[in-house]
Amino acid sequence: MTSRDSELWDAQAATFDDQPDHGLRDPLVRDAWRSLLISLLPPVPARVADLGCGTGTLPMVLAELGYAVDGVDLSPEMVRRANAKAGSFPDTSFVVGDAGDPELAEAAYDVVLCRHVLWALPDQPTVLARWTRLLAPAGRLVLIEGSWSTGAGLTTSATVALVEDAGLAADPRALDDPAYWGGPISDERYVVVGRRLP
Ligand SMILES: C[S@@+](CC[C@H](N)C(=O)[O-])C[C@H]1O[C@@H](n2cnc3c(N)ncnc32)[C@H](O)[C@@H]1O
Repeated sequence: MTSRDSELWDAQAATFDDQPDHGLRDPLVRDAWRSLLISLLPPVPARVADLGCGTGTLPMVLAELGYAVDGVDLSPEMVRRANAKAGSFPDTSFVVGDAGDPELAEAAYDVVLCRHVLWALPDQPTVLARWTRLLAPAGRLVLIEGSWSTGAGLTTSATVALVEDAGLAADPRALDDPAYWGGPISDERYVVVGRRLP
């Protein structure tokens, strides 16, 4: 993580929520993500770490559902916007930091959530080992990623392999419903849930 990275993301913060899946301003898109998160997460009460949380849109969906959420992002401007959205929600926090090596308590999270950030982090096996240490004994990783038409990203099989190499059972699900993205997609988008093996 460099100051150049944080400046690049700071510069994107003002328009970040214009993308349908970022701002979730369309009620149909918001409902799709809300339903997805309900289906993937344990019931409340539960504590979620959102790593690379951006402007905090997914955390706000979670806070409305009653989850406690701690967000980390390298961009001070993203974090400022997330804190502004959080307003009076209890038990939400957003801090500037490195998602690849978050300064969060170990064994404290029921869910470690990350959307569209893991693919860009260096040394992903080490990152996943760190994230797994944040999980409470019955906790889970929820990794929303893609292999996009731009050529960037991680394939589903690559993410499954990373999760399995971290010692977790991986459960992938395609996210090809246009409702998540505000329109049809032609690339690979998915979520992988990682749970400790029994
Ligand atoms: C594509 S956006 C995704 C934001 C959010 N997860 C979402 O889905 O709405 C990528 C975010 O990751 C943040 N980011 C990139 N590298 C990071 C790092 N090493 N540590 C923390 N945040 C990072 C950027 O500042 C940006 O907010």
